[in-house]
Amino acid sequence: MLVNARDMLIKAKKEGYAVGQFNINNLEWTKAVLLTAQECNSPVILGVSEGAGKYMTGFKTVAAMVKAMVEELNITVPVALHLDHGTYEGAQKCIEAGFTSVMFDGSHYGIEENVEKTKEIVALAHSKGISVEAEVGSIGGEEDGVTGKGEVADAQECAMIAALGIDFLAAGIGNIHGKYPANWQGLDFEALEKIMNATEGMPLVLHGGTGIPADMIKKSISLGVAKINVNTECQLSFAAATREYIEAGKDQQGKGYDPRKLLAPGFEAIKATVKEKMELFGSVGKA
Ligand code: 13P
Repeated sequence: MLVNARDMLIKAKKEGYAVGQFNINNLEWTKAVLLTAQECNSPVILGVSEGAGKYMTGFKTVAAMVKAMVEELNITVPVALHLDHGTYEGAQKCIEAGFTSVMFDGSHYGIEENVEKTKEIVALAHSKGISVEAEVGSIGGEEDGVTGKGEVADAQECAMIAALGIDFLAAGIGNIHGKYPANWQGLDFEALEKIMNATEGMPLVLHGGTGIPADMIKKSISLGVAKINVNTECQLSFAAATREYIEAGKDQQGKGYDPRKLLAPGFEAIKATVKEKMELFGSVGKA
């Protein structure tokens, strides 16, 4: 069932678990995430970066594929189709294309401009029943061309953005896209607590879910995180399983080169990663 992400995150925050956002890249990725969510009876958010949207030939293609796949696979758990780190123009395009949720990432603007642009996206999205995520502070590292220095979000600025009627807020707390470096200092829980207190009940979003240790994940959920984004970890699982298949020469045995066979181990690996995350985030059985 394709829905916006508002109610699923309010419920998650109230009941003390987080919904996973898993970024998709193609049909196999989408199918793997949807089937796992259904098997786990878990709500789920499909994340689409602007780069991935372009790769899949455009947001309209993505929206049509996801809508049809939810129907054809009889997916009854709540599914949100969400733009990840959207630009102002990208968010507008996704609202038109049939996404059910958008992130407008105005974190690289000054706070006044972030407030103004976020306000406009909220008005447009909410007029169509689409949920909105905004960002304050920045997520370190790089994802699909979106780079950030990893500034820790200021609690007062978070309160300003939260007051605009957004549905959930991404706040930089030392989290990084991609793999964490060996000298990573960990998440800034003091900052997270301040943000939680300043934004009163707002579901918070933890980006950079790949490689965050389980105890830090659990602690962030206890401090108001209701959505956790995972991208790189599915890519790593997919790549490792595909490499193993090819290195074992299986693509050269019988019709092992058939894409449906060649991509099957990677597909199963994505499923296993998504299931593991849903168990860790506590969303299993919460649909
Ligand atoms: P990772 O690639 O580090 O899992 O981050 C995903 C993310 O935050 C998407 O916005």
